Amino acid sequence: MIVGVPKEVAAGERRVALVPDSVGALGKLGLEVVVESGAGEAAGFLDAEYEAQGARLVAGADEVLGADLVLKVQAPSPGEIEKLKPNAFYMSLMRPLDQEDLTQGLAARGVTAFGMELMPRITRAQSMDALSSQSTISGYRAVLLASLALPRIFPMLVTAAGTLKPARVLVVGVGVAGLQALGTAKRLGAVTYGYDTRAAVKEQVQSLGARFVELDLETGDSEDSGGYAKAQTEEFYQRQRRELGKHVSQADVVVTTALVPGQKAPLLIEAEAVEAMKPGSVVVDLAAEKGGNCALTQADQDLVVNGVTIIGHTNLPSEVPAHASQMYAKNLVTFLEHLVEDGQIALDFSDEITAGTVMTHGGQVVNERLGGTLPVSESQDSGSAEEGEN
Ligand code: NAI
Repeated sequence: MIVGVPKEVAAGERRVALVPDSVGALGKLGLEVVVESGAGEAAGFLDAEYEAQGARLVAGADEVLGADLVLKVQAPSPGEIEKLKPNAFYMSLMRPLDQEDLTQGLAARGVTAFGMELMPRITRAQSMDALSSQSTISGYRAVLLASLALPRIFPMLVTAAGTLKPARVLVVGVGVAGLQALGTAKRLGAVTYGYDTRAAVKEQVQSLGARFVELDLETGDSEDSGGYAKAQTEEFYQRQRRELGKHVSQADVVVTTALVPGQKAPLLIEAEAVEAMKPGSVVVDLAAEKGGNCALTQADQDLVVNGVTIIGHTNLPSEVPAHASQMYAKNLVTFLEHLVEDGQIALDFSDEITAGTVMTHGGQVVNERLGGTLPVSESQDSGSAEEGEN
């Protein structure tokens, strides 16, 4: 089976789906890797490094897109879909819950497509979980962006020229990105605070030396079986915004990451709360792509409102492309190690990982989360759910 790795075409995307160090692992599975010349360049990986690891380099995207399996970071453009071979396999991030046309396009092309965001959150799939790996990078990068925009330093300093107070950093939504943001801010010397609706998070926040912000709110059963937050009522969000506002206005930096799968990001910070922050303060909104957790966020813009900087970058992993690509490539390789038998992808729809991630097959949408049905003949035996969550 030939695996094609094209250069990413989305504006501003600097990552690459496969790094040179991962080529050998695919070779061991009996796969042959073909890389588009220049595909890794923006992430710092040169053609010669891929070649040294056994990949074949080709000019232009046509041959790699015509491979038996295509690995990408971003979802395919309509032009890329047209170049995929019918019956080929395709894997990338897809934002599948937001992009019905894309799913239909892949089905119509006859491609078996996998959406990396759909990876089930079970222990044995952890090393295939691209949402986690990329969120780790986002959380780190968010704090660095904030530190550069802030007209203060993060650590407390006692110097001959006086004492500098440490920055106060509040992270709202402490999942994978939020934990990394808290850890990074702490390492830079900030006083850190974390808040989340999921009860399990309190201990994790405290284990990173941060204080957990308790709000006077009844969160009830706030976590679904996949470890994600459940959507709350609009009344809850209104109270949450009011309560959270007091903590936001005291922070020098607020990093927000709150997401609910398949939905617009919950609005957690009102314009008034930002206006009450000290001039020079910074909000980094990691939910910008999904509409933002902060009312003032504009996707892909840095705004200054009443002296407060609001950063709404939508692709932070691409700003750290070498390590983001390395982690993403590892996710793909581990996924392929799971799927490939004797040099071929063996589709077993009774497998939780395959069933969870496959979007289209045989001309149909086959993922239940996307309104499809798994092929009957191959899913008949898929009785028992396996493994505990997380
Ligand atoms: P996410 O990106 O969907 O959301 C980020 C955070 O926002 C979550 O912690 C969520 O609880 C929080 N949030 C949502 N609505 C909120 C609100 N109204 N107010 C405050 N916070 C709100 O989540 P992420 O980071 O992708 O993962 C969430 C959890 O999933 C992890 O902490 C972990 O427990 C679990 N997980 C399990 C994995 C596995 O076992 N393979 C892998 C990765 C995560």
